[in-house]
Amino acid sequence: MCGIVGYIGQKNTKEILLEGLKELEYRGYDSAGIAVLSDGVFSSFKATGKLINLEEKTKDFTTDKFAVGIGHTRWATHGKPTELNAHPHVGENSYIVHNGIIENYAELKKALIDDGVTFLSQTDTEVIVHQFEKNLKDADDAFSAFKKTIAELEGAYAVLLVTKAENNKIFFAKHGSPMLVGINAQDEKYFASSDTPLIGHCTDVNYFEDGDYGYVSHGDILIFNKNNQQKQPHFVKLSANKLSAQKDGYCFFMEKEIYEQSNIIADTLLGRVTEKEIIFEELDTKLFEGINEIKLCACGTSYHAALTASYIFERYSKIKTSVEIASEFRYREPIMTKDTLFVAISQSGETADTLETLKMAKEASLKTLVICNVDNSSMVRLADATILMRAGVEKGVASTKAFATQVTVFWMLSLYLAKLKNSLTQEEIVHQLELLRAIPTSVKVENSMHERIKRLSKRYLHGHGFFFIGRDIFFPLALEGALKLKEISYLHAEGYPSGEMKHGPIALADPELFTIALLPEHLLYEKSKSNIEELSARDSTICAISPIAFEKADDFIQTKKQKDYMLEFFEIMVVVQLLSFEISMRLGNDVDMPRNLAKSVTVE
Ligand code: AGP
Repeated sequence: MCGIVGYIGQKNTKEILLEGLKELEYRGYDSAGIAVLSDGVFSSFKATGKLINLEEKTKDFTTDKFAVGIGHTRWATHGKPTELNAHPHVGENSYIVHNGIIENYAELKKALIDDGVTFLSQTDTEVIVHQFEKNLKDADDAFSAFKKTIAELEGAYAVLLVTKAENNKIFFAKHGSPMLVGINAQDEKYFASSDTPLIGHCTDVNYFEDGDYGYVSHGDILIFNKNNQQKQPHFVKLSANKLSAQKDGYCFFMEKEIYEQSNIIADTLLGRVTEKEIIFEELDTKLFEGINEIKLCACGTSYHAALTASYIFERYSKIKTSVEIASEFRYREPIMTKDTLFVAISQSGETADTLETLKMAKEASLKTLVICNVDNSSMVRLADATILMRAGVEKGVASTKAFATQVTVFWMLSLYLAKLKNSLTQEEIVHQLELLRAIPTSVKVENSMHERIKRLSKRYLHGHGFFFIGRDIFFPLALEGALKLKEISYLHAEGYPSGEMKHGPIALADPELFTIALLPEHLLYEKSKSNIEELSARDSTICAISPIAFEKADDFIQTKKQKDYMLEFFEIMVVVQLLSFEISMRLGNDVDMPRNLAKSVTVE
């Protein structure tokens, strides 16, 4: 998704902007650009494709004195990924970068065209800079013109604007898209749409709230809120740890992230699992008072984790649970009752659809909880309570360790609720706690297992489709396996409940239909086996993943004997992640930055 950086200071502005954009690369983009204003002169560069193209274009350009600069990685929404559509967008004397979508851009554009303005791009963003320059003609100063412009925009945005009219300032506005400003002892100011570009440069950061706007100059940070009242910046310390963002010798972040799941889950469990109970210091039991239902809402992989949770919440905590796809929930005029706890699940905490549903729940006065990986993200700041997943920075666009930690948190939460509601005996809880502590072992990648998957992967590079099938919680895992494969291999894959195949999809069965069968020992083994046999009888090519040898399969990936189906879930999760990874590697794809995808989807 789009990324924003900005800088005011004496250093080489170009280098700082490019370095910042590099940190945002993993979010997915299709073009990039920068604009630097120094001594009243603008220099602007744009390029399609990877940042290396922009680096090439800017190789002879340097700034060695005070300058203001803005930069952007664009993920196309309005208009194709061309150089003209790349940001920054230019007016007569100003440049702008923008994340989000301006919903009333068409009417603003029409009025500007009627006034004689010529547009260079097809983007919604370009209207902002022209509208600003139009307003500037009648305004006392650039800030008044900027303020008026922002008030005229509808939609979601994080915006940085620089103008010759006041050439030592960056004007900013935030509404629905994340943005922060950072400071350091050298009196430099950095902007970005997420923390990472600021790590190592800034000691403290201020996260803008929705409705915030203002400007930053060398000496000042002036912030106004949505009611046009000036407010003080609220600085918090920025972590200095960039280590986790490195590849540690793996070819791709995704592989590294699969391998580190064992340590990461140990972190997720740390201090939360005792001999007798689950402790969430971040939760107040009052959150659950008067609650008769849990509604889980998310997108993509987080949705699959939520689906998994719905099985174990009902099974262990005996609480009615429903699951919603955020983009659907937003517009279907749902009935929300106050005895429902609304739980949003998001790795990034910035996904526009999920964030919007959280706002809806708040407006309906529901109690809200967020399961998130990014502290200080928009969702964390909005919810009544948060459980952090502690997965560390996830760089691969295809989510792996975030899913693993989400399911871990949900398993813990189901036991926490079971204790509160007395739905499991103390003995059962103690047994479950023992199992929980075994997750880090169950997700350890054995060399032999990885080698087996690597070898098998060459048989699965074609075909007319994949069906990942499973029952109970292995159905959401099947959905997740299929999503992983689609995302990074570009092969068509579906996740399906094993027992549902006979109601239609079995018509597709032939040797070129690949069935990836999730067959745990401790959950509905015989039922699942019969469903796989039905497909085998119709000549579908079967790859079974199970601890028990299965002679009807063409290929077999043998998992370890586990004590419980939950531990089998985690081990099989690693197998499907590695299978997708190896298929994608063989196809020569960019595993970490698959085409058309963005890490953080901040538009609806
Ligand atoms: C996962 O592999 C995806 N790239 C995607 O489905 C993702 O899970 C989804 O966009 C939701 O993101 P979030 O967890 O940050 O809200």
